[in-house]
Amino acid sequence: MDALQAIFSRRSIRKFTRQPVAGDQIEILMKAASVAPSAGDQRPWHFVVITDTAVLRKLSAAMPKCEMLDTATLGILVCGDEALEKIPGYWVQDCSACAENILLAAHALGLGAVWIAIHPIPDRFNPCREILNVPENIFPFALIAAGHPNENLQGEDRLDPSRIHNNLW
Ligand SMILES: Cc1cc2nc3c(=O)[nH]c(=O)nc-3n(C[C@H](O)[C@H](O)[C@H](O)COP(=O)(O)O)c2cc1C
Repeated sequence: MDALQAIFSRRSIRKFTRQPVAGDQIEILMKAASVAPSAGDQRPWHFVVITDTAVLRKLSAAMPKCEMLDTATLGILVCGDEALEKIPGYWVQDCSACAENILLAAHALGLGAVWIAIHPIPDRFNPCREILNVPENIFPFALIAAGHPNENLQGEDRLDPSRIHNNLW
């Protein structure tokens, strides 16, 4: 799958089969996350890779509207670390680029994935912190729920010409 094909056919997948994600695929996802662009190449991130389905189910039970974690076989918590910032104020954008890279790489591997918002929702970042033992100075940012897809969603053309302003607004 080439890059444009991956971008245009990716969808959020929230239902997964029981098949675990292979270790070499997880490694590709982590490499994809790690090459994301970041301000000043500061890479202010850490990842918690969750393959223990009991932990994923615990997170599902602890956080509102996270039923996709009932069938996910992989979770990747993208975390921000302000102490790693060279240019303060950019960790959210940097971690977002990371999360998108993971989603696209998962799709290119034939996996399904969805971005679960964690920051800035206390009902979500507090359970993540407690269950995954995330230190106080680290921000749990986004949880990518992933696995082998058990639903088939097509890419959509969402181009809205009214949102495009050529040369001047
Ligand atoms: C910042 C962000 C937060 C999101 N949070 C959630 C979430 O908490 N739960 C969820 O089911 N989907 C979440 N999503 C996925 C969006 O719902 C999804 O991307 C959007 O509906 C478009 O659908 P698509 O990804 O299939 O194109 C999030 C996406 C982004 C970018």
